[in-house]
Amino acid sequence: MKGKILVTGGTGYIGSHTTVELQNSGYEVIIIDNLSNSNIDVLDGIKRITGIKPEFVQGDCTDIECLENIFKKHSDIKGIINFAASKAVGESIAKPLLYYRNNLNTLMNLLEIMPKYGVKALVFSSSCTVYGEPDENPVTENSPIKAATSPYGNTKQICEEIITDYIKSGVNIKSTILRYFNPVGAHPSAEIGELPNGVPQNLVPYLTQTAIGVRNELSVFGNDYSTPDGSCIRDFINVVDLAKAHVCALDRMIENPECEPLETYNLGTGNGVSVMELINAFEKVTGVKVPHKIVGRRIGDIEKVWGNPNRANSILGWKAKIGIEETMLTAWNWQLQLRKKGIM
Ligand code: UD1
Repeated sequence: MKGKILVTGGTGYIGSHTTVELQNSGYEVIIIDNLSNSNIDVLDGIKRITGIKPEFVQGDCTDIECLENIFKKHSDIKGIINFAASKAVGESIAKPLLYYRNNLNTLMNLLEIMPKYGVKALVFSSSCTVYGEPDENPVTENSPIKAATSPYGNTKQICEEIITDYIKSGVNIKSTILRYFNPVGAHPSAEIGELPNGVPQNLVPYLTQTAIGVRNELSVFGNDYSTPDGSCIRDFINVVDLAKAHVCALDRMIENPECEPLETYNLGTGNGVSVMELINAFEKVTGVKVPHKIVGRRIGDIEKVWGNPNRANSILGWKAKIGIEETMLTAWNWQLQLRKKGIM
């Protein structure tokens, strides 16, 4: 056993896939999640994949007492991965205080607790949203941070600053900031995947729900961007690949003395794929047509962004391996599984 890791937001989309990879690599996982955007049944999916049902605490990380109780019970927690956060761009514009309260307080509570209980390692889930509309692609970790276009994006920037300032204060912890590009797909077992509440805001769940007939038509937001086919370009990264990077980051903080107190990594594939290319890849690999129409641009969308993952490749020893077609197949298999279970 490599040690205990607290995974906040561990029943969510990225949290659940990361829990699987942590357990597979020998860590013991304790999850805290308020189930605001996930379902308790995810724990059974994790168990079917790994044979281990992680310890679960239903609670909110903005509640410091609830968090402290976990550390009182488990005095030997070695690291924390903080996924617990609100993440819908549109909702953040409508309910900014909810976003600032949830995302900032959760992080500050964790940071406050860490030295008190001797926890040395924190992985923070950040986003390529911090780069805004980049002047140049692919973006590196040193590319300029642009003014955030939503309260959600702003919480990611502020959280990165809070971590930076806290570490500068000399506190005895290490933190790794991981900037995700666009995580998509599902576990190849189809036991866990993405299941947003209500109408999906993100492209891939909307696409798979359209393909299976839950939604009538996928709207493609804009075909007049200055890109080869006119649709936006993103760096779509397989969620299992992404999850594995968290294990590398924790291993490095816990085991490698060369690890700096604060390190930041892009987690992307290095390739830009357009929205239209993604739809075509899905149709090709599944043989299922996705009814879609071109509509106007979505406010706040970035035209094109993809990441340079060289730093993560060389220092973390991590690389995205799974291609977009295989990834789309996993997304589809997960959607079929939801249908089989009568969920969607
Ligand atoms: C957004 C956030 C990102 C966050 C991610 C997950 C920004 C700039 N980006 O990414 O930080 O991590 O959500 O919540 O804040 N699209 C369609 N039709 C749809 C849905 C999407 O054409 O029905 C297009 C969008 O216009 C975009 C692309 O698909 O070009 C990807 O959209 P989406 O999946 O929502 O992710 P991002 O907006 O890139």
